[in-house]
Amino acid sequence: LHIAVLMGGWANEREVSLMSGNGVADALEARGHRVTRIDMDRQVAARIAGAAPDVVFNALHGVPGEDGTVQGMLDLMGIPYTHSGLATSVIAIDKELTKQALVPHGIPMPGGRIVKSEELYRSDPLARPYVLKPVNEGSSVGVAIVTDESNYGNPIRPDTEGPWREFDQLLAEPFIRGRELTTAVVGGKALAVTELKPKSGFYDFDAKYTDGMTDHICPAEIPEPIEALCKQYALEAHRLLGCKGTSRTDYRWDDEQGEAGLFVLETNTQPGMTPLSLVPEQAKYAGMSYEDLVEAIVADALD
Ligand code: DAL
Ligand code: MG
Repeated sequence: LHIAVLMGGWANEREVSLMSGNGVADALEARGHRVTRIDMDRQVAARIAGAAPDVVFNALHGVPGEDGTVQGMLDLMGIPYTHSGLATSVIAIDKELTKQALVPHGIPMPGGRIVKSEELYRSDPLARPYVLKPVNEGSSVGVAIVTDESNYGNPIRPDTEGPWREFDQLLAEPFIRGRELTTAVVGGKALAVTELKPKSGFYDFDAKYTDGMTDHICPAEIPEPIEALCKQYALEAHRLLGCKGTSRTDYRWDDEQGEAGLFVLETNTQPGMTPLSLVPEQAKYAGMSYEDLVEAIVADALD
């Protein structure tokens, strides 16, 4: 096959996407496919049309790329592409829209609300500790945990470093103490549950992409009912959102609350494919090499 691997672009997760895209492209070449690597720019439609691939492997993360823009463009061009389609991407990139899609179907997600950044300078939107995050970023870009101990001030001082300086609107959610879990769906199956144990702080951008900063426990050492619930919610979210190819659903689990302490944070429709990423790791655990995983995602796009 001739496969165009779309990566990079100008999202905040550009560097992560380049790692994913080059990894995917190397794997496809190793399997004998013809690969065109495309670092997305404003001429991307013309470049894809010029390459005339059989299929596009979308290795973009964040906005634009994970949000439906690229999916809509490829729909119009009539070129098959990997991962989720337009409508799914629009909903899943937005953590608030995702709640509106999943919570009515019984998937537990944290409460919370959208706040204007300037409101934060007057009062806390929720009782501390709480989490502030942009609705549509990935890799923990712009995530802040506001606690009584955090030195952002109380109320938050406008001059302190934090996402309120970069994003006009943020999603405020209660901070869920406890543990960080994730489950990948590939080929219609929930592969495993991984626990992420950052050696310090939380599973932020550096802890995600610096080798050695986070222990990945796969399979997670958690009670069987929690494992079963993670797999069930990942499959339900994948189905309810209409995901294609692969998705990865992330959790916080308050282990003092048992099953009632498990909350879905979000479903990622373009999960990372870097050497430290979680879907490849779970695929390996399930007996699937990185190359097999990439081939399976391509096969799904052509199905
Ligand atoms: N947003 C990153 C790439 C992930 O979900 O893996
Ligand atoms: Mg994400």
